[in-house]
Amino acid sequence: MKLPLVYYGDPGLRGQAEPVTDFDDKLLALSRDMVETMHAESGIGLAGPQIGVSRRIFVMEIPAELDEDEQGNRMNPDLEGPLVVINPELSSLTPEKEEMEEGCLSIPDVRGKVRRPVSVTLRFQDVEGKWREMRLHHLAARCALHETDHLNGVLFVDLLSQVKRVAIKGKLRKLKDQTLQS
Ligand code: NI
Repeated sequence: MKLPLVYYGDPGLRGQAEPVTDFDDKLLALSRDMVETMHAESGIGLAGPQIGVSRRIFVMEIPAELDEDEQGNRMNPDLEGPLVVINPELSSLTPEKEEMEEGCLSIPDVRGKVRRPVSVTLRFQDVEGKWREMRLHHLAARCALHETDHLNGVLFVDLLSQVKRVAIKGKLRKLKDQTLQS
């Protein structure tokens, strides 16, 4: 089932999400619905707070064609299909950073360049509660960082340059008014 999205201006996007503690059928259903919603919205990531669930869960899926280096090799060969990430922990962020344009399903029609570490280690639980760990690079690392930010109430627009933030201020205000009126 596709779930309705929560948009910029909703206070739920600014909260600190709670850890997931019950690895039951409800969680499995939620994770399936989140993947379905991500696909329906053509996103590469979706976090709990974006569908009104203040829990530490996100889903991500990096299309193979966006995960190739110049030689056409996968940069994250272990990433196949949608990944359900529960109670994520990020570590070993590379000091080396790269800049790339980002968007967010909760902030339609706004994009901007964000500097983020090139690689990161992601430790997380799967839907059965089993701990897993993987090293992510480039877009996959960026996605994991962006989605984990959502669980801490941080949005990519917070990380834009001051000039860019001023430039999108009107758009954000409009979006917030729309959200609060609905
Ligand atoms: Ni987002």
